[in-house]
Amino acid sequence: MGHEDIESVLLTEAEIKARVRELAGEIAESHGDGELVAVGVLTGAFVFLADLVRHLRNPVRFTFVKADSYGDGTRPGELRLTMMGEQDLRDRDVLVVEDILDTGRTLAGILAILREKGPRTLRSVVLLDKPARREVEVQADFTGFTVPDRFIVGYGLDHAQRYRNLPFIGVLGVGG
Ligand code: XMP
Ligand code: MG
Repeated sequence: MGHEDIESVLLTEAEIKARVRELAGEIAESHGDGELVAVGVLTGAFVFLADLVRHLRNPVRFTFVKADSYGDGTRPGELRLTMMGEQDLRDRDVLVVEDILDTGRTLAGILAILREKGPRTLRSVVLLDKPARREVEVQADFTGFTVPDRFIVGYGLDHAQRYRNLPFIGVLGVGG
């Protein structure tokens, strides 16, 4: 495989590809064929976002958000969003695209901030859901796969900024 730090493959390239296509179908079915604003959460969502939107026939505008938590280092702090791209979400159909839902803090915070911008609809799609670690009650409207409580990498997900370009999703081995 050439990736010695990957303990096991959790989702193959073929499995991801098939599910991403299905997710696009679910989204198109629920939204109809109107224009969407896709909000990609940097950095991890960029691979998923790129594959997902190429299955949508809707017109799509894009914006990217970077979420940073400002805390005292011991507790999760206030979430601040930097937006790049389309800023005007008023009366638009907005779809937040995220790689993984873990504690839920990031997605919950992003949705709260975006809701204040007055979108017509606000929905979210996550490729992966790790419910074991949830701290904040939040659920995505569309979920690709439920995953176990392991540190996973690939297909956008990183460890110290590495592995994002792996075409599959794997469990990172200890010491990796
Ligand atoms: P919360 O906890 O706010 O976090 O739901 C979501 C963000 O945490 C990152 N994350 C991971 N990144 N492997 C990763 O590479 C993982 O297993 C993992 N779990 C959480 C991710 O960046 C996501 O945006
Ligand atoms: Mg990350």
